[in-house]
Formats: sequence, structure tokens, C-alpha cells
Amino acid sequence: MNENSRSPLPRVPLPDPGIYLALKEEGLTRLLKAVYRRLGKSPIRDMFPKTDQELDLAAEKSALFFIGICGGPPLFERLYGPPQMRARHQRFSIHARAREAWLDCWKEVLFDESNPVGFPEEFRQGFWDYLEAFSLWMVNA
Ligand code: HEM
Repeated sequence: MNENSRSPLPRVPLPDPGIYLALKEEGLTRLLKAVYRRLGKSPIRDMFPKTDQELDLAAEKSALFFIGICGGPPLFERLYGPPQMRARHQRFSIHARAREAWLDCWKEVLFDESNPVGFPEEFRQGFWDYLEAFSLWMVNA
């Protein structure tokens, strides 16, 4: 149950498991690396690691979470314990504009016409809807 019962946040169904079947660990890691490289140049870059190498490492960790929610094995939990994403984001001050900037980075990668990470067209909109809804849970400022 959300602690702020005056503004209930949406329950968010997990992304389509077809995403993992199509992209596997390798493709989802490439996806997260592309997003993190953008985050590193975005208006919220100060929240993220500085060097490309550090960004790639952070992206690899995040990818483990996305592998799990997209239908793959629970690699993130195995290594780091319960995901508790809201709690893991508490050390950052995330306001509505930070969420917008975060989503913009995802949008650039997912809807890039050249589709450099090969994200399956048929799952794009559903995955985007997931990000839009779940990211509301991370706003804490
Ligand atoms: C609302 C906008 C969001 C902002 C501004 C934000 C920001 C951050 C920052 C600054 C970090 C730490 C850097 C790192 O190690 O990656 C982080 C970690 C992470 N974020 Fe977010 N995030 C947002 C939403 C989300 C959402 C919606 C998800 C999942 C769908 C997510 C998944 C993760 C994961 C898996 C990690 C790594 C956790 C860990 O290191 O233990 N984030 N996020």
C-alpha cells in the first residue's frame, strides 16, 4: 500500500515477457547502456556517475533489474536482494521535472528511428507505458 493514500499511485503491470525473449541479457544491457549514456548528458546528469565507464557499470546493474521485469531470470534480486525500487531511490531528490528528464532519455532511445538496440516495435508502446507509470512511484520531492 502506498503511504500517501491521498494521491494513490497506479498499480503497474510488468512489461511484456516477449521483450526478454527478443533482447535477452545482451540486448537489454545495450538498451540500458544507451539510456545511461543519455542520462549522463541530461539535465539530471549530476545524479548519475560521471565517466562513460562508470555509467556503463551502473547501466549493467540496472539492466539486471530490467531483465527480471521483462520476463528473464531474477538476476538483480540474486545479487542485490529485494528490488524495492522506491526505497533505493530515496537517497536522491527526485521531483517531477527530474522524472520528465529521465523519461526523455528513455524516449530518445526507444523511439529512435534507427532503433540501435533493436527494441521490438510491437512492445515499444507497452514498455513506454510501463516506464511512465512506474516512474511516478520514484518521485519523492
Ligand atoms: C523517476 C525518474 C527516475 C530517476 C530520476 C532515477 C534516478 C536514478 C539514479 C540517480 C540512480 C542511481 C544511479 C545508478 O546507480 O543507476 C538510479 C538507480 C536505479 N534506477 Fe532509477 N530513476 C528513476 C526511475 C526509475 C524507474 C522507473 C526504474 C525502473 C523501472 C528505475 C530503475 C533503477 C535501477 C534498477 C537502479 C539501480 C538500483 C541500485 O543501484 O540499487 N529507476 N535511478
